[in-house]
Amino acid sequence: MNISHIEEIESNKPVTVVIVGAGHRSLLYASYAEKHPDQLQIVGVVEPNPIRRKLTAEQFDLDDNCCFETVEQLAKAPKIADAVINGTMDDLHVETTIPLLQVGYDVLLEKPIATSEENMLKLYQTAREYKRTVMVCHVLRYAPFYKAIREVVASGDIGDIVNIQTTEHVSYHHMAVSFIRGKWNSEEKCKSSMLMAKCCHDLDIVTWMVGNQPKKVSSFGSLMQFKPENAPLGAGKRCMVDCQIEENCAYSARKHYIEQGRWGFYVWDNSHLGMEQNTNQKIEALRSDSPYGRCVWHCDNDVVDHQSVIIEFNNGCTATHNMVGATSRPCRTIHIVGTKGEITGILEDGSFVIRHPDPRKGHEYSEKRITVDVTDDSHGGGDLLLVADFVRIMRGEEPSLSSTSLEKSIYGHQIGFAAERSRLEGRTMGIDEIN
Ligand SMILES: NC(=O)c1ccc[n+]([C@@H]2O[C@H](COP(=O)([O-])OP(=O)(O)OC[C@H]3O[C@@H](n4cnc5c(N)ncnc54)[C@H](O)[C@@H]3O)[C@@H](O)[C@H]2O)c1
Repeated sequence: MNISHIEEIESNKPVTVVIVGAGHRSLLYASYAEKHPDQLQIVGVVEPNPIRRKLTAEQFDLDDNCCFETVEQLAKAPKIADAVINGTMDDLHVETTIPLLQVGYDVLLEKPIATSEENMLKLYQTAREYKRTVMVCHVLRYAPFYKAIREVVASGDIGDIVNIQTTEHVSYHHMAVSFIRGKWNSEEKCKSSMLMAKCCHDLDIVTWMVGNQPKKVSSFGSLMQFKPENAPLGAGKRCMVDCQIEENCAYSARKHYIEQGRWGFYVWDNSHLGMEQNTNQKIEALRSDSPYGRCVWHCDNDVVDHQSVIIEFNNGCTATHNMVGATSRPCRTIHIVGTKGEITGILEDGSFVIRHPDPRKGHEYSEKRITVDVTDDSHGGGDLLLVADFVRIMRGEEPSLSSTSLEKSIYGHQIGFAAERSRLEGRTMGIDEIN
């Protein structure tokens, strides 16, 4: 990890940052500054959307000359902050980060690092060349659940890892809002596969636990469910316009976005910046032109709704990750088998179990349950703990167990890129083939 900024930031001063892309994620991370003004201060914004730029400037009381439409404008101006939080959409991460690295900004970068292996390596080389820190928002590393498991692994209690099985179940309402109706529903549009958009966290967790580089990857998966030929009898094109089964449909836009009020920050523009539409306006939008009012069987989605990945690491360890969309309950599970014991748990349950063989007469194995705090913050509590760690790193403090260098963050992404190639080409991919 590059620590060239240590001399630049006095440890008792807040780290100053510019928001790049005033969307839902950046504003969530920026909320840390409101809770801990002694640690983090938002001093500028880069945002092409004039409404978002203005609302962000008002929220953080920013000077006009610290509000920019493009990163090129920020890069040309005298340096105004220690770092930036880059929360632009997936395919803009590299082009909006490189010019800022070149003029001396460190970066807290949303995942995925890039939408192609080639661009990911370009960003990595630039960060090395300009000796800047890029910390990737692998928030799950900070969730107390995964951090506690990593501590057990690091202690040697279960020996060397032989195999890891992870799953991510993406709930029916999350699947619908993001991968059927929403921003990540088509690779052509957003440039990310569903595996990269949803599970680059899980693939990072696997590589973090194993602590080794991936060697080979195989993957299978497809879009099975959400296509016109599977539409139930009576389904229309828009839930609140021409559907005869809306009242009993699990995917009713009215139920998800009005009755339940789920996923407002995706569905209602600028709601993350405090702009709210009233119920009548929301109903009208879902009836007319909102993409979120569409029938889930009649959208323009082409990403998979389930995918399985098999990985072999350089040290011989193997792993599987299963991503399954449209489940009743959202959940992430992990099962790690080591040479001396095993760990198994479900993130949403907030606990995991450590087992060891116990060959004494009348016994088979010992079992210890560890309970962790799963707060109501998303990602098992990881989001703002990640920002706290970024502040620590920027102040030159020792990296934590969860801290991830760009170099290490890349391993999980390599698996994701290789898995997508494997799925499409129907063969096992060597990691060296995708470089
Ligand atoms: N870490 C996580 O767990 C997690 C969870 C959800 C999303 N994400 C990632 O966060 C990123 C942002 O997602 P979001 O939902 O907040 O997006 P968003 O669409 O709400 O925000 C993106 C913002 O970037 C702005 N923008 C567009 N072009 C720009 C440019 N050239 N320069 C600066 N700003 C520009 C847009 O106008 C918009 O305001 C995505 O890459 C997504 O994959 C990460």
